Amino acid sequence: MEKERFYITTPIYYPSDKLHIGHTYCTVATDTIARYKRLCGYDVMFLTGTDEHGQKIEEKAKEAGVTPKEYVDRIVTGKGGVLDLWKLMNISNDRFIRTTDDYHVEGIQRVFRKMYEKGDIYKGAYKGKYCTPCESFWTESQLVDGKCPDCGREVHDAEEEAYFFRLSKYAKPVQELLESGTFLEPASRVNEMINNFIKPGLEDLCVSRTSFSWGIPVDFDPGHVVYVWVDALFNYATALGFMNDRYDDYDKYWPVAHHIVGKEIVRFHSIIWPAMLMSMGMPLPRKVYGHGWLIIDGGKMSKSKGNVVDPYVLAEKFGVDALRFFLLRTFPFGTDGNFSNELLISTINTDLANDLGNLVSRTTAMVEKYFGGRLSPERESSPADEELVNLIRDTKARYAKQMDAFQLHLALEEVFKLIQRANKYIDENAPWVLAKDESKKARLATVMYNLLEALRVSLVMLSPFMPDSCAKAFAQIGAEGESVSWDKAGEYGVLPAEVSVHKGETLFPRIDMAKMLAELESQSAKKEPEAPAYKPVLPEVSIDEFAKCDMRVCKILSCEAVPKSDKLLKFVLDDGSGKPRQILSGIHHFYEPEQLVGKTVVAILNLPTRKMMGQPSEGMLISAARETPEGEEVHLLMLDDSVPAGAQLC
Ligand code: ME8
Repeated sequence: MEKERFYITTPIYYPSDKLHIGHTYCTVATDTIARYKRLCGYDVMFLTGTDEHGQKIEEKAKEAGVTPKEYVDRIVTGKGGVLDLWKLMNISNDRFIRTTDDYHVEGIQRVFRKMYEKGDIYKGAYKGKYCTPCESFWTESQLVDGKCPDCGREVHDAEEEAYFFRLSKYAKPVQELLESGTFLEPASRVNEMINNFIKPGLEDLCVSRTSFSWGIPVDFDPGHVVYVWVDALFNYATALGFMNDRYDDYDKYWPVAHHIVGKEIVRFHSIIWPAMLMSMGMPLPRKVYGHGWLIIDGGKMSKSKGNVVDPYVLAEKFGVDALRFFLLRTFPFGTDGNFSNELLISTINTDLANDLGNLVSRTTAMVEKYFGGRLSPERESSPADEELVNLIRDTKARYAKQMDAFQLHLALEEVFKLIQRANKYIDENAPWVLAKDESKKARLATVMYNLLEALRVSLVMLSPFMPDSCAKAFAQIGAEGESVSWDKAGEYGVLPAEVSVHKGETLFPRIDMAKMLAELESQSAKKEPEAPAYKPVLPEVSIDEFAKCDMRVCKILSCEAVPKSDKLLKFVLDDGSGKPRQILSGIHHFYEPEQLVGKTVVAILNLPTRKMMGQPSEGMLISAARETPEGEEVHLLMLDDSVPAGAQLC
């Protein structure tokens, strides 16, 4: 039977600077979805590439004293460039397109001519506000505080003879497309597009430039180059051989196209792109999914933030799989996430070293110790197994539901429920006690077998996220061949009764937070100004006075912005008492609410209740703050998640 097909793309990246962890996030997410679909048996085409034309690149090349092509070659194919990065990150793309590739250039010229001949592209003159870094013209009404609405930078008046695409003609069908079904996700982005762009009126789009030459020439009107977004968007089709002879996969994969894109380019993908496809008479993609940004200290990442966002540095320090996992486990895919090294390290320590790593090492060590590495075939089941066995059987369906909806963090959540249940099962069944009693051998073998089965199905589901580590872990638990297939990921009793394990290297070593942070800091390209030496600023207190503060560990149950306040966040906390506690804290400039839910923090509980913006606040969260030349910096004090709610600081 022919396999079902699946075509998935990342945006094609601007090779104007080195790629950072934000770009890596997008590519790793797409790679994970592609790997998952392959695991499920789909015939997958996974495309990524680079978007190499435009004024910005022309200018950068000029500054560097090289031709634009030399400039992009260095960033794309040079050492430490885009291709090297994707190889390092284990990206399994089937194809890589560069918009300077001849076949793409040919395809774009033919596309442009076709829309022109149809009358959907016409010649006119453009007057408007132009943002050079974004290569975008804006109308006065679209500007935010007189600046570019995408990047916030200065715009300038510009006028040029240009070709226009009749975007206005497609406003209605595009709106209908957005409103019907699931073309654009998450659903919240649909209203944003309709209210911000379609309802105010779609103007025709300027699709050629004469002010610079680094682009694809309009072949019937030399002097004009094709607008970089038309050039870029059609990569998804030319890479399959659309309007060129290089490939022959257009009919095969185009009807099942899925685009993963960052939120700031959703507008291009969900309005301009379908309009042009309608003009070309091409089928529309199945889905555009707009993910959030990784932000750092509340802002989008940039080169000036130094090594902290360099994926090469992070992969070297933490390992490729741990980095891949962190990106997808920590940040809900559709919303922004605040990146920090602390969060990276605590996620690795909690989920990978503690939960998963310990489960693998404890299980394999016990099978080695109690059975010489090969499980004996006798079994004795117990009602105590039921919950774990049910989870082994049921997790696959819940995981698949989330993966199919690109809710990668929720899919991982399902797998970790199983892993955590298995760890608890070890403690409940105490194999070390069973091992002391020869008559409990069959029971002990059953407990170990159940753990190996829990690991097997968990690892199958984790394999799209961490392919290399899962392959190593499969070898350790003696799972191979069909037993590691997707088909068997929802079944119990798949491993052979006498399975052999091989305790191997520690898959995810625990990281010493303080030591690693210091190492990263010392490697950072940007030298922080030295912290001033400690000078006592407050009068001395006695230990008894200090002990009057009731400082407790709390878990954040929910967190939301307080209406009409740009600073305040409202927290509902589990302080260990069984009764939720509400605390307001003025840290919204430094954290997004969704970053904080589930975190383990410290609060002073015995302060008098006070009202902030009309709402009671029953205590105070403890943060660390300092002044820097760039302004105040605030870090909410967070503890390892293993510290229970209600524990008192002393
Ligand atoms: O937009 N967090 O290229 P690009 C998450 N060439 N994602 C981020 C990010 C961050 N901090 N920074 C960037 C372009 N990205 C066009 C695409 S497609 C036909 C043309 C994401 O290199 C960003 O959201 O500026 C975008 O999806 C992708 O990286 C490429 O950005």
